[in-house]
Amino acid sequence: MRRPIIAGNWKMHLGRLDEALPFVRSIRHALNEIEGVDRVLCPPYTVLAAVAEALAATKIGVGAQNLHWEDRGAHTGEISPGMLAECCQFVIMGHSERRASGGEGETDKAVQRKLRAALAHGLTPILCIGENLAQNEAGQTHEFVSSQIRSALNDLSPDDAQKCVIAYEPIWAIGTGKAATPADANRIIGLTVRGPIAEMFGGTVAEAIRVQYGGSVNADNIAGFMAMPEIDGALVGGASLKPDFVELVRRAAPTTA
Ligand code: PGA
Repeated sequence: MRRPIIAGNWKMHLGRLDEALPFVRSIRHALNEIEGVDRVLCPPYTVLAAVAEALAATKIGVGAQNLHWEDRGAHTGEISPGMLAECCQFVIMGHSERRASGGEGETDKAVQRKLRAALAHGLTPILCIGENLAQNEAGQTHEFVSSQIRSALNDLSPDDAQKCVIAYEPIWAIGTGKAATPADANRIIGLTVRGPIAEMFGGTVAEAIRVQYGGSVNADNIAGFMAMPEIDGALVGGASLKPDFVELVRRAAPTTA
């Protein structure tokens, strides 16, 4: 049985202490009470340590939104995995907003390095993959997304591969209010995400690895995704910035918990 995991990606929001801390303090008790589901907050770097401290006595995880793959060096403005390991357990990588050429231009090669660096420091990677609208409409989703997976996980040991969390996020669904249907997300995660992983690492790893859906997930639609057998949770952007995030996580928890 895979344990569900909901991660809130704050992006470039709530990055001041006077915004982040009141918000975290307002939700942490209720969020901590929920059983049977991992929940992770991924704030901007500026408040990462403070949020981690505010959550220290809870079971709520903390994640960063990016990392550099080197341990140290002349990399102005970058943050190393060792620095992150001081205050968090998770790190997002390969988000489409960072892969986009208008964004940071993060390449498959960079994502591959980041993933290894995170694992080497005991951080759990949340690896984002997903096709854009043109690729989706041209029927290229399988080819594109599976190549992202093959590149990122290439040559890992099965043990390391299994430690990763994968977030399938179709780009056209991010921040648009137009989520994929649970059935479509389920089909793509089964065939296009777990399929290549099974070929690379065997069926046991493909069955064990946790795969989230991301893209316009909110408290109203989360249950539909969680009802799908291949989907183990969500990477949540906009809806993680509001107190309603607690309700979203509650609805992602197994009903028996
Ligand atoms: P959204 O963002 O929930 O606001 O669509 C998801 C993401 O980018 O991870």
